[in-house]
Amino acid sequence: MSWKDKLIIALDVSNADRALDIVDRLGDYAGVFKVGFELFVSAGPSVVERIRNKGKKVFLDLKFHDIPNTVSKAAVAATRLGVYMFNAHTSGGLEMMVRCREAVDEVCLKEKLVKPKIVGVTVLTSLENGILKNELCIQHGVRAHVKHLALLALKAGLDGVVASPHEIGMIKQNCGREFLVVTPGIRPSWVPPDDQKRTATPKDALREGADYIVMGRGIVKQDDPVKALELISLEILTA
Ligand code: C5P
Repeated sequence: MSWKDKLIIALDVSNADRALDIVDRLGDYAGVFKVGFELFVSAGPSVVERIRNKGKKVFLDLKFHDIPNTVSKAAVAATRLGVYMFNAHTSGGLEMMVRCREAVDEVCLKEKLVKPKIVGVTVLTSLENGILKNELCIQHGVRAHVKHLALLALKAGLDGVVASPHEIGMIKQNCGREFLVVTPGIRPSWVPPDDQKRTATPKDALREGADYIVMGRGIVKQDDPVKALELISLEILTA
């Protein structure tokens, strides 16, 4: 498996034409394309279908976080859209995650659909210990909180979690090698962190055992995204 099969490119743009142009230009370099809030709210669900029609997998990154009934209905809708992966906040609680997973299992069985991977968002990569402690009243720190939420996602039967590259090893150790870890906060050495706090280079994240690395600005917002990808490739493949 090439590292490019593990690359998820974030289509953080405001219209479908721009997103599809990126898919056309970078389609050979990434296994999965991510549709997040900006694109989904601007372009609607049809953008998912248009990306899929190009033979590409879609990670629907809408981070569901609501009461169990609402999240399970949204999860069914995402499954019917044919997404490869979608996510929900683990902090929505165990019942929310369990009902979400059960609703997906049920609709897949009934309508003979392919089951998407469901990953739980743990602690956003834009947060760090100070914010957790001072703003969110979570005293035990990022690592302990990520561990707790990852174990909760495992208990709920989710396929894995979204976490920072700093927590990959700890999650694999506690939740098992098969439990997926999807890591945003990825920055090649020459790209600034922007609003991301818990970052790592693509090479380090993959070396730590990330199943998927999510990259947005480090590729899409560069003057020449293809050149950026080639440089990243070089960095990864150089011992
Ligand atoms: O531009 P950048 O590479 O920082 O983009 C990261 C992408 O991953 C964004 O689309 C962001 O919404 C998403 N994401 C994240 N942290 C999470 C989950 C998703 O940064 N915990």
